Amino acid sequence: MAPRFLIPDRDCTLYAPGLYRVQSRILAGLFLAAISFSQGADSGPLLTFDNSPMGTEEKPLVFRSYFPNPDLEPEVLKRHGQGNPTPRYSAKTGLLSDERMDQAIPGIPAAIGVNAGKTLSYVWDTTECRLLYAWVNGFLDMEAYWGEPTRGSRKSNDYVPRLYGQLFYKATGANPLRVNGENLPEDLKYLYHSRKSTHPEFTYQAGADRTISTMVTPGESAQTAIVSFRSSNAADKLSYEAPNTAFEILENNSGSLKVLLRPNAAETFTGFKKQEVKITEANAKAGEKLYQMFGCAACHTTDGSRNHGPTFQGLSGSVRKFGDDEITADSDYLRESIREPNAKHVPEYPVGMMPAYPLSEVQIDSLVLYIQTLK
Ligand code: HEC
Repeated sequence: MAPRFLIPDRDCTLYAPGLYRVQSRILAGLFLAAISFSQGADSGPLLTFDNSPMGTEEKPLVFRSYFPNPDLEPEVLKRHGQGNPTPRYSAKTGLLSDERMDQAIPGIPAAIGVNAGKTLSYVWDTTECRLLYAWVNGFLDMEAYWGEPTRGSRKSNDYVPRLYGQLFYKATGANPLRVNGENLPEDLKYLYHSRKSTHPEFTYQAGADRTISTMVTPGESAQTAIVSFRSSNAADKLSYEAPNTAFEILENNSGSLKVLLRPNAAETFTGFKKQEVKITEANAKAGEKLYQMFGCAACHTTDGSRNHGPTFQGLSGSVRKFGDDEITADSDYLRESIREPNAKHVPEYPVGMMPAYPLSEVQIDSLVLYIQTLK
């Protein structure tokens, strides 16, 4: 069976070495035809099996595919069908079957994924006409879509690539953009995306008399993204509302709006290669792995530099001030900070940003031992 190639964006080159090797010459021909859509095999970013993000900030990789749904709120995907099985359609009779049902593919269809190197990957949805989620340090594991690198066979019934990297942002609530104080109309209609500037800009019809264009770019600090909106109607006043999201309005002019999104999620995805840390006895080495795996690295540095949360360097044994109280960051304090992120609030850092993790005691102890090595 012919592999379903991703629909290449004009300057996205597809590269599936395994497939290329194993499929028949006809398929190889098809595959080359897909490549020749692009502007030459060497000019565009490549998407490969090895999980490296292939786009760069100068030349983001853009393509369409099914994308995984990292547990987005139903409100965010409300214009999609709810993923229920649908009656099978017959092209011959033009009728929907009473008996035969097609199982929904467990992914988000018709979205566009963009990778701008390690600093930003995101999924922009052409159905909801909004940014769905963003992550760093990776892009996608294509195994479900392309099959295995060496054999080409795909996981049955699951064509959805796996996320790869650290997710830091998930859309929440209804579409966040307001125009002249009003919600966007229900029937947004995606029109096209343009690549006039480095990053793609997505344009959609929002009611009879305006189109809106959206561009997503990496923010200045790690794990942030900037979403820029433009209305075709220069007199429009744009505003932004999003529950459980820390955002900052960077610019708000007539007809345009620029919003900085801070992390509201922290999940690590490893594609098909399940990374497991088996710990029998708490130890710092395991703690370091957990620090990467659970995405603590998204917010806490180990080299003293400031990120969304305090650095771990020199944290252990230091004196933490909470109003008039002074507490030494001993192992009890560290344990509590991890187990109940909101028990105490370190001043000058955002409240309620750190997620509570389902960690076992031995995992918490390992994290504490690791933090204690960071003098
Ligand atoms: C989305 C960002 C974010 C992630 C991810 C995160 N934290 Fe935090 N963390 C914070 C912020 C912000 C604070 C400080 C504000 C507060 O006290 O709530 C904090 C505070 C802490 C503190 C207390 C630091 C101090 O200076 O007293 C510890 C310890 C800690 N986090 C450990 C962890 C560990 C371990 C993980 C991963 C399992 C983790 N954090 C993941 C944002 C995050």
